[in-house]
Order: sequence, then C-alpha cells, then structure tokens
Amino acid sequence: MKEPPLLEIDNATIWRGSTRVFHDFSLTLQQHERVAILGPNGAGKTTLLKLINRELYPVASDDSWVRILGRERWNVWELREHIGLVSPDLQSHFMPNSTVLEVIVSGFFSSIGVHYQLREHIQPMQLQKSVEVMQMLGLKEFREREFETLSTGQQRRCLLGRALVHDPDTLVLDEPTSGLDLKAGFEYLSRIRELARRGRSLVIVTHHLDEIPPEIERVIILKNGQIKADGPRDAVLTAEVLSDVYDTSLRVAHVDGHFMVYPAENN
Ligand SMILES: Nc1ncnc2c1ncn2[C@@H]1O[C@H](COP(=O)(O)OP(=O)(O)OP(=O)(O)O)[C@@H](O)[C@H]1O
Ligand SMILES: [Mg+2]
Repeated sequence: MKEPPLLEIDNATIWRGSTRVFHDFSLTLQQHERVAILGPNGAGKTTLLKLINRELYPVASDDSWVRILGRERWNVWELREHIGLVSPDLQSHFMPNSTVLEVIVSGFFSSIGVHYQLREHIQPMQLQKSVEVMQMLGLKEFREREFETLSTGQQRRCLLGRALVHDPDTLVLDEPTSGLDLKAGFEYLSRIRELARRGRSLVIVTHHLDEIPPEIERVIILKNGQIKADGPRDAVLTAEVLSDVYDTSLRVAHVDGHFMVYPAENN
C-alpha cells in the first residue's frame, strides 16, 4: 500500500486572529522528504508549521482539508510520536523553575514543563530515554539547571532533546539557529544533518540560505500566503527567483555544497 503523505493541504483557508494567512492553499509534502521553507516576514511559514503540528486548523468546508499522515484527526500525544517540532516560540513558554531534565521529560507529556502532579507519573523508561537524549546532545551537565538560566543555544538544544524523546520520523524546525552564535549554530545544524542522514525527514523554516544543508532536496518559497517557487534546491535558490521574491537585486554563490546570498552591486 502506498504510504500517505506527511502533509496534504487541499484548498485550505487559514485565519490567525483577523488575518487570513492562506486562502485556497494547497501543498503536499511526502514522507521522507527533506524540505526547506523560505520567504519574507509574514509570508505564512510559521503558520504552515502550526498546521503540521495541529496548533491551527483550517476553516471547515467540504472540498478542503489538512491531512497529516493521511488523517484529519489526531490527538497531540499520538502526533508527537511522528512529528517533533522545535521553535523559538516554545522557548519563551516554559514554566519558571523547570529543570533541563523536566523540560526534556515533558516531551512525553506534551506539556510545557513537568507539573508536580505529573512528576510521579514519569516511567523509568521515559527517564532513561531522556537521559540518553541529554547525553547525545551534550546536555548532561545541565540536567538539574533551571531552563531559564541556560543560554539561547543551550535552550534550543534542550528543546531539540524534548522533541527527540519519541524518536519521531520527522523533525520540524522553525528558524533553527535564530539567536545562536556562529559556533552554536553550526554545531546545532550539524546535529540536525546527522539526524537527517540517519533517516529522519526534515522540514526547516529559515531565512538563511547557508542553513539549508546539502541533505535538503526540496525548497519551497512562500510569499503572502502563496507558493512562489517549489522544486529542487538548485532550481529554486537562484538569483533570479530570490531577487523577484524579495524585491531586491541579489546574487547567489555556491560554496562547498552550501548556498550564500548577497546583494548585487547596483543595490
Ligand atoms: N495571532 C495573530 N493574529 C493576527 N494575525 C496574525 C496572528 N499571528 C500571525 N498573524 C499574521 O499572520 C501572517 C503570517 O504570520 P507567520 O508567523 O506565519 O509569518 P512567517 O512567515 O513565519 O514570518 P516570519 O518570517 O516573520 O517569522 C502575518 O501577517 C502575521 O501578522
Ligand atoms: Mg515565522
């Protein structure tokens, strides 16, 4: 049997507050794809990730749907086993005084931080998995530190750990290196690449072309809630396409399998 797509959006209209972000929007992402999503501020990128993560729903109508892995209905606990999301948004929402260990374990509870009532429900297997993930991400020394006292980069790694406790097939990352210094950013990306090489699918939203690793095959550009380009990364990341989307003259360079963008001289 053919496996269902990771994401199948058909004719969806999505509102956030009083903004209609998508109208009659359609997009399919297959399982095992590695995709980057780019586009100007306000294009709808984070909104799209929130659809994948079931934080937002489309306006109900007969010929429109959003299906994740072939289903329109999910409960969040089930979904977390398939899709792990890390976003800078999450970072600001943790309960004060949560320790790093508690933040990571909280991945099992789909809660933000582990509340006192939940602590007694932590299974030995969950604790063991959380410790393994901390070890893999170099977080062991922070185990009992309060999450709030970590640097941005350390917090981001911790949230990746929280998403990884389930071994999800797909990782969804919103602006993975925002706020990270060069070294922390490169290290974080190299962990993500390693996870991709070991077979995980990736959906990365970014503003930085150099953050799109060679493992990413498909690039989608969104602008004003519409798809402006969608295809193999070499076909989409061109000076022509990017200059058009961002409405400014740009050039693109290729260095060691990475892309770089810079302003054209006559800017
Ligand atoms: N709660 C809200 N109420 C009203 N409008 C909203 C709300 N949240 C988002 N929007 C609007 O929805 C549109 C899409 O926002 P979204 O966060 O998806 O953009 P984005 O592509 O992720 O941008 P950025 O690159 O700045 O992160 C924007 O115009 C934004 O102002
Ligand atoms: Mg965003």
